[in-house]
Parts: sequence; C-alpha cells; structure tokens
Amino acid sequence: MMAKEPIVVAIDGYSSCGKSTTARALAHRLNFVYADSGALYRAVTLFFLRKKVNFSDLGEVNHALHNIQLDLRPIDGDLQVWLNGEDVTSEIRQMYVSDAVSEVAAIKAVREELLKVQQEMASQKSLVMDGRDIGTTVFPHAQLKIFMTADPKVRAQRRYKELTEKGEHTTYEEVFANLAHRDLIDTTRKESPLVQAQDAIVVDNTHLSKGEQLDLILGMVRAIIKSAENHGFA
Ligand code: DC
Repeated sequence: MMAKEPIVVAIDGYSSCGKSTTARALAHRLNFVYADSGALYRAVTLFFLRKKVNFSDLGEVNHALHNIQLDLRPIDGDLQVWLNGEDVTSEIRQMYVSDAVSEVAAIKAVREELLKVQQEMASQKSLVMDGRDIGTTVFPHAQLKIFMTADPKVRAQRRYKELTEKGEHTTYEEVFANLAHRDLIDTTRKESPLVQAQDAIVVDNTHLSKGEQLDLILGMVRAIIKSAENHGFA
C-alpha cells in the first residue's frame, strides 16, 4: 500500500465570511491541523505598526521581516498566535490592525516570507488552511478548494456583532467600510490577489447556518478521504 498522503483543504474567500470558524471546526472534526493564514498577516502587521515600519520602504520592510518569529499553537481546540514569544491572539483582531493588514498583505516581500511559513505547515499532517490565495498560490494542488462568499451586508453585520460582543467600540458603518476596503485591496493587488481557483467549489453562506456549512464541507472532505482509500492512497 502507498504511504498515507496528507490531505490539504484550502478555504479562500472574502473578509469576514466565516472562513476561520469553518476551517477551525472542520480541522477539529477531522483531526487535521488548522492554520489561519490571515493571522500570520495580522501578526506581521502588528509588528510593523509597533515598530513604525514605513510600508513603502523595502529596506525597512525586509529588516523588520528578519526580526519576526511567528508561531501558530493549537491549544484547547483554539489557535494561539505568537509573535516573538508574545501571545498576540487577541491583539491582532483589533480594528487598528484590521485597518492596516491589507496594505501589509499586498507587499511582495511579506507574501514571499509567509509563503514559506505556510507551505512548511503541510509537510507532515493533513491540514485545513484558510486565507485568500491558499488554493491558487500556497497549495495549488490541494485536494479540496473552497471559495467562500456571502452578502457583504450580512458579513458586516456578523463581524459588527462579534466585535461589539468582545467590547470593542465601533459602528456597523465602520465595519462595513473596513470590509469593503479590504475586499477591494485583496482582489485588486498585484501579488497573488484573491481570486477563485478554477477548480474551487463556491460556497455562498448568506443563508446557511454555521452547522449547515460545516456539514456541507465535511461531506466533501469525507468523500475525498473515501476515494483516496479506495485508490489505496490512505
Ligand atoms: O482572514 P483575515 O481577515 O484575518 O485576513 C487578514 C488580511 O490578511 C486580509 O485582509 C487579507 C490578508 N490575507 C492575505 O492577503 N492572504 C492570505 N492568505 C490571508 C490573509
């Protein structure tokens, strides 16, 4: 029998359409590793903001990138994000980071650095990774690619609720504007923009509950596992 081949599930899509929640739950149910690539871009952004790095100065960007140590740690079914030995899991979700992250994610040197970090994560174990270019650039041979989308107003409403429940002071309008701004930069940037991979399956969750969406994708992964077993790959 052939060696067990790790399965990669790539979930891409617009900001705040539930990619991370679904990817985390999926990985938990399948006992796969979960990797939130957006968290890596957010942690780099936080570091740049703290160090007052000028995003348009390549020398400063490269120097800063050499001084960043990132770590995603699965703890109690959650994923902690560590930046140079500090737990920044909550800090990277603050609005001031969200406001700057798409600018940082559009920088070629940043993407090249994080590409290596992301690809190393899939060398041994099956994994679910969510982001913007996972199915197109990071894992173009992923066995399953999902392109997730939802109505922008519904996305903004969900995100606004999440932020206010955490005690952050913001308005629906501010959240909507941030999402629209990030969608625009993410889809129009030069370096691996957010586009649907040709072989991706579109999941529009505007009218789906979290559970329904999870079951839908879980069914797809299980079909892939079964087919791999039938062909002697797993
Ligand atoms: O998924 P998120 O909202 O936490 O991602 C934060 C930002 O990082 C998002 O605006 C775009 C960027 N990003 C990216 O460019 N490529 C990825 N693979 C993941 C995130």
